[in-house]
Amino acid sequence: MVDRHRVELVVNGETETREVEPRRLLVDFLREDLGLLGAHIGCEHGVCGTCTVLMNGETIRSCITFAVQADGQEITTVEGLASNGKFHPVQEAFWEKQGLQCGYCTPAMMLRTVEILRENPSPTREQVREGIASQLCRCTGYQYIIDAVLEAARTMSAGTQTDGKVPVTQGAGPSSAEAAAQTPGAGPALEEEAEDASRQKES
Ligand code: FES
Ligand code: FES
Repeated sequence: MVDRHRVELVVNGETETREVEPRRLLVDFLREDLGLLGAHIGCEHGVCGTCTVLMNGETIRSCITFAVQADGQEITTVEGLASNGKFHPVQEAFWEKQGLQCGYCTPAMMLRTVEILRENPSPTREQVREGIASQLCRCTGYQYIIDAVLEAARTMSAGTQTDGKVPVTQGAGPSSAEAAAQTPGAGPALEEEAEDASRQKES
Protein backbone atom coordinates (compact mmCIF):
# COMPACT_ATOMS: atom_id res chain seq x y z
CA MET A 1 0.00 0.00 0.00
CA VAL A 2 1.32 3.40 -0.99
CA ASP A 3 2.11 5.68 1.90
CA ARG A 4 0.24 9.00 1.57
CA HIS A 5 0.44 12.19 3.58
CA ARG A 6 -2.13 14.91 4.04
CA VAL A 7 -0.84 18.33 3.03
CA GLU A 8 -2.53 21.68 3.40
CA LEU A 9 -1.12 24.65 1.51
CA VAL A 10 -2.32 28.13 0.70
CA VAL A 11 -1.91 28.45 -3.05
CA ASN A 12 -2.61 31.84 -4.60
CA GLY A 13 -4.69 32.72 -1.56
CA GLU A 14 -6.78 29.54 -1.56
CA THR A 15 -6.34 26.74 0.96
CA GLU A 16 -5.75 23.41 -0.77
CA THR A 17 -5.77 20.09 1.04
CA ARG A 18 -4.72 16.83 -0.63
CA GLU A 19 -3.30 13.39 0.10
CA VAL A 20 0.04 12.94 -1.61
CA GLU A 21 2.81 10.39 -1.83
CA PRO A 22 5.94 11.54 -0.01
CA ARG A 23 7.84 11.56 -3.31
CA ARG A 24 5.30 13.79 -5.05
CA LEU A 25 7.14 16.79 -6.47
CA LEU A 26 5.67 20.20 -5.83
CA VAL A 27 5.69 21.04 -9.54
CA ASP A 28 3.66 17.92 -10.32
CA PHE A 29 1.34 18.68 -7.42
CA LEU A 30 0.73 22.20 -8.75
CA ARG A 31 0.31 21.16 -12.37
CA GLU A 32 -1.50 17.85 -12.09
CA ASP A 33 -3.36 18.03 -8.79
CA LEU A 34 -4.26 21.73 -8.85
CA GLY A 35 -4.22 22.37 -12.60
CA LEU A 36 -1.84 25.33 -12.29
CA LEU A 37 0.17 24.98 -15.48
CA GLY A 38 2.22 28.16 -15.09
CA ALA A 39 4.96 26.26 -13.28
CA HIS A 40 6.79 24.79 -16.26
CA ILE A 41 9.04 21.77 -16.24
CA GLY A 42 12.43 22.12 -17.89
CA CYS A 43 15.54 20.40 -16.64
CA GLU A 44 13.98 18.77 -13.55
CA HIS A 45 17.34 19.18 -11.86
CA GLY A 46 17.03 22.59 -10.23
CA VAL A 47 19.12 24.29 -12.89
CA CYS A 48 16.97 26.12 -15.44
CA GLY A 49 14.47 27.82 -13.13
CA THR A 50 11.38 27.39 -15.29
CA CYS A 51 9.58 25.67 -12.42
CA THR A 52 10.13 28.61 -10.06
CA VAL A 53 7.31 29.55 -7.71
CA LEU A 54 7.20 31.69 -4.59
CA MET A 55 7.06 29.96 -1.22
CA ASN A 56 6.29 32.48 1.52
CA GLY A 57 7.37 35.16 -0.94
CA GLU A 58 10.73 33.64 -1.85
CA THR A 59 11.56 31.83 -5.05
CA ILE A 60 12.07 28.09 -4.94
CA ARG A 61 12.55 25.40 -7.58
CA SER A 62 9.37 23.35 -7.46
CA CYS A 63 11.04 20.49 -9.38
CA ILE A 64 13.36 19.75 -6.49
CA THR A 65 10.84 20.43 -3.71
CA PHE A 66 8.48 17.77 -2.48
CA ALA A 67 4.85 18.70 -1.95
CA VAL A 68 5.16 17.54 1.66
CA GLN A 69 7.92 20.12 2.16
CA ALA A 70 5.42 22.81 1.23
CA ASP A 71 2.89 21.62 3.79
CA GLY A 72 1.61 24.62 5.75
CA GLN A 73 3.32 27.13 3.46
CA GLU A 74 2.05 29.85 1.14
CA ILE A 75 2.71 29.26 -2.52
CA THR A 76 2.29 31.81 -5.29
CA THR A 77 2.33 30.78 -8.92
CA VAL A 78 2.05 33.07 -11.92
CA GLU A 79 -1.71 32.47 -11.87
CA GLY A 80 -1.77 34.33 -8.55
CA LEU A 81 -0.18 37.55 -9.79
CA ALA A 82 -3.18 39.14 -11.49
CA SER A 83 -6.07 40.27 -9.34
CA ASN A 84 -9.48 41.81 -9.88
CA GLY A 85 -9.15 41.16 -13.58
CA LYS A 86 -5.99 43.24 -13.86
CA PHE A 87 -2.48 42.15 -14.64
CA HIS A 88 0.20 42.66 -12.03
CA PRO A 89 2.54 45.56 -12.96
CA VAL A 90 5.26 43.02 -13.67
CA GLN A 91 2.99 41.26 -16.16
CA GLU A 92 2.13 44.61 -17.73
CA ALA A 93 5.80 45.44 -18.07
CA PHE A 94 6.65 42.12 -19.75
CA TRP A 95 3.77 42.77 -22.14
CA GLU A 96 4.81 46.35 -22.86
CA LYS A 97 8.50 45.58 -23.34
CA GLN A 98 8.00 42.26 -25.13
CA GLY A 99 10.05 40.50 -22.49
CA LEU A 100 9.37 37.09 -23.98
CA GLN A 101 9.36 35.02 -27.12
CA CYS A 102 8.16 31.44 -26.65
CA GLY A 103 7.06 32.26 -23.10
CA TYR A 104 8.34 29.07 -21.55
CA CYS A 105 10.56 30.84 -19.03
CA THR A 106 8.18 33.76 -18.55
CA PRO A 107 6.03 32.73 -15.55
CA ALA A 108 9.16 31.93 -13.56
CA MET A 109 10.90 35.06 -14.81
CA MET A 110 7.99 37.21 -13.65
CA LEU A 111 7.89 35.60 -10.21
CA ARG A 112 11.63 36.15 -9.87
CA THR A 113 11.05 39.77 -10.91
CA VAL A 114 8.49 40.21 -8.14
CA GLU A 115 11.11 38.99 -5.68
CA ILE A 116 13.88 41.15 -7.15
CA LEU A 117 11.79 44.30 -6.96
CA ARG A 118 10.58 43.57 -3.45
CA GLU A 119 14.19 43.32 -2.32
CA ASN A 120 15.38 46.26 -4.41
CA PRO A 121 12.65 48.49 -5.90
CA SER A 122 15.13 50.48 -7.95
CA PRO A 123 17.74 48.11 -9.37
CA THR A 124 20.38 49.05 -11.89
CA ARG A 125 20.58 47.20 -15.19
CA GLU A 126 23.53 45.23 -13.85
CA GLN A 127 21.63 44.31 -10.69
CA VAL A 128 18.72 43.07 -12.79
CA ARG A 129 21.13 41.07 -14.92
CA GLU A 130 22.56 39.45 -11.80
CA GLY A 131 19.09 39.00 -10.32
CA ILE A 132 17.72 37.02 -13.23
CA ALA A 133 20.86 34.94 -13.63
CA SER A 134 19.06 32.15 -11.82
CA GLN A 135 16.52 31.91 -14.64
CA LEU A 136 17.47 30.52 -18.04
CA CYS A 137 15.85 31.80 -21.23
CA ARG A 138 16.70 30.11 -24.49
CA CYS A 139 15.03 32.66 -26.76
CA THR A 140 15.34 36.30 -25.95
CA GLY A 141 18.98 37.07 -25.30
CA TYR A 142 17.69 38.59 -22.05
CA GLN A 143 17.83 42.25 -23.15
CA TYR A 144 14.07 42.73 -23.43
CA ILE A 145 13.55 40.81 -20.20
CA ILE A 146 15.89 43.23 -18.44
CA ASP A 147 14.01 46.11 -20.07
CA ALA A 148 10.76 44.64 -18.72
CA VAL A 149 12.11 44.32 -15.18
CA LEU A 150 13.32 47.93 -15.28
CA GLU A 151 9.96 49.03 -16.66
CA ALA A 152 8.19 47.24 -13.81
CA ALA A 153 10.53 48.98 -11.36
CA ARG A 154 9.62 52.33 -12.90
CA THR A 155 5.88 51.83 -12.84
CA MET A 156 5.79 50.23 -9.40
CA SER A 157 7.99 52.94 -7.91
CA ALA A 158 5.90 55.62 -9.54
CA GLY A 159 2.75 53.87 -8.37
CA THR A 160 1.18 54.36 -11.77
CA GLN A 161 0.07 50.78 -12.27
CA THR A 162 -0.66 49.53 -8.80
CA ASP A 163 -4.41 50.04 -9.22
CA GLY A 164 -4.83 49.74 -5.50
CA LYS A 165 -3.32 46.28 -5.43
CA VAL A 166 -0.21 45.44 -3.54
CA PRO A 167 2.31 43.22 -5.27
CA VAL A 168 2.98 39.84 -3.71
CA THR A 169 4.08 40.54 -0.16
CA GLN A 170 4.46 37.19 1.56
CA GLY A 171 7.67 36.53 3.36
CA ALA A 172 10.27 38.77 4.85
CA GLY A 173 11.01 42.24 3.63
CA PRO A 174 8.85 45.21 2.79
CA SER A 175 6.32 45.10 0.02
CA SER A 176 7.22 46.93 -3.15
CA ALA A 177 4.71 49.60 -2.24
CA GLU A 178 6.34 50.07 1.17
CA ALA A 179 9.81 49.97 -0.25
CA ALA A 180 8.88 52.48 -2.92
CA ALA A 181 7.44 54.75 -0.25
CA GLN A 182 10.77 54.58 1.54
CA THR A 183 12.61 55.54 -1.64
CA PRO A 184 11.53 59.01 -2.67
CA GLY A 185 11.84 59.53 -6.39
CA ALA A 186 12.75 55.90 -6.75
CA GLY A 187 13.49 54.82 -10.25
CA PRO A 188 16.31 53.11 -12.03
CA ALA A 189 19.66 54.68 -11.27
CA LEU A 190 21.07 57.32 -13.56
CA GLU A 191 23.76 55.06 -14.86
CA GLU A 192 20.94 52.82 -15.91
CA GLU A 193 19.46 55.49 -18.11
CA ALA A 194 22.88 56.26 -19.55
CA GLU A 195 23.37 52.61 -20.41
CA ASP A 196 19.94 52.47 -21.99
CA ALA A 197 20.67 55.51 -24.10
CA SER A 198 24.02 54.18 -25.18
CA ARG A 199 22.46 50.84 -26.13
CA GLN A 200 19.78 52.53 -28.18
CA LYS A 201 22.38 54.63 -29.91
CA GLU A 202 24.38 51.55 -30.86
CA SER A 203 21.34 49.73 -32.26
S1 FES B 1 12.67 22.38 -14.16
FE1 FES B 1 13.12 23.03 -12.14
S2 FES B 1 14.98 24.08 -12.32
FE2 FES B 1 14.66 23.29 -14.30
S1 FES C 1 11.05 33.27 -23.96
FE1 FES C 1 11.50 31.26 -24.65
S2 FES C 1 12.67 30.42 -23.05
FE2 FES C 1 12.44 32.51 -22.50
